[in-house]
Amino acid sequence: MLDPFTGSGTTNVECMVRGISSIGIEVSEFGCLLARVRTAQYDTEVLKKEIQDFERKAKEVDYSAKIRPGQYLRTWYPERSQKELLHMVRVAEEGSYTYRDLLKIIISRIARSARLVPHYSLDSARHPVRSPYYCHSHKRVCFPTESALKFLHRYCTDSFRRITERPEMGKATQRQRQVSKQGQRIICADAREFRQPHESITGVITSPPYPGLIDYHEEHRYAYELLGLKWKPDLEIGSKQEGQGERARERYKRDMVKVFGNLHSMSKDSAIINIVVSDRFNLYPEILHDTGFKISRVLERIVTNRTALRRGTFTEKVYIASKE
Ligand SMILES: C[S@@+](CC[C@H](N)C(=O)[O-])C[C@H]1O[C@@H](n2cnc3c(N)ncnc32)[C@H](O)[C@@H]1O
Repeated sequence: MLDPFTGSGTTNVECMVRGISSIGIEVSEFGCLLARVRTAQYDTEVLKKEIQDFERKAKEVDYSAKIRPGQYLRTWYPERSQKELLHMVRVAEEGSYTYRDLLKIIISRIARSARLVPHYSLDSARHPVRSPYYCHSHKRVCFPTESALKFLHRYCTDSFRRITERPEMGKATQRQRQVSKQGQRIICADAREFRQPHESITGVITSPPYPGLIDYHEEHRYAYELLGLKWKPDLEIGSKQEGQGERARERYKRDMVKVFGNLHSMSKDSAIINIVVSDRFNLYPEILHDTGFKISRVLERIVTNRTALRRGTFTEKVYIASKE
């Protein structure tokens, strides 16, 4: 199975649970980090010890030490949190941890919660809040977070729980277990450029980016800044800053024709392509047609569970297609 826009790796996680091998392509390094952590194999005892060790050392912050935080950290965190977060990164990088990537995800979760953003605009705040404010979400006065350490134990415990409670391979056969162990590859690449040399893909499940909706790098800026991940927003297809105008939509179609052209050459003749997308501008019938796929069904589903950034319900399509 292939997902050319794998994000945090949901397709790969579901393949792992079912003993299907999969490839996830994702341009954002933070997405790849998350997807790898979600699909990795863990020795629970080692993981537990490493998280406990990390938690203990992460608390030993030297508040008198001089630090040189970048502009982003200085803007969005009080000095105390800056020191704590940079210390956590050092602990994760300098310790000899097998599951360092999971520790990085724990740090990024802490960093996200510790930003100086008001609770009612977690994903869209333009300015930091540095004093108590009336919170429209909680209908009371709330206080900006003074210390990132406050979130340390919560995210250490929760991340351990999430990994150990994965439904992973519960009902899988012996063979499926083997496939699951070796079979999830996450590749950090631009889907317009990624090709496999032969026709090995039997299915595609993907939820592509859509014109002018989300800047995926920007959404997780805190993680890029702290963890030193490569910042490549220019490679995102359909980024928010390009808007939804005619030129942006034309460019989007051209980009997607490249991606689906690649998928066509990598797929077996019997491959089934599933695309989950809200497709407001009805772009996919043309993209699929131009790349040699024919649509066999279009399902509709109502999306209700929205995040703070994207409230309200909307309808999403699932295009099911195969080679012509
Ligand atoms: C709707 S999200 C996918 C969500 C995913 N199903 C998940 O489980 O998180 C679309 C993804 O496409 C990625 N993307 C955008 N342009 C890309 C490109 N040129 N190549 C590969 N991935 C890209 C974005 O970074 C984003 O993670």
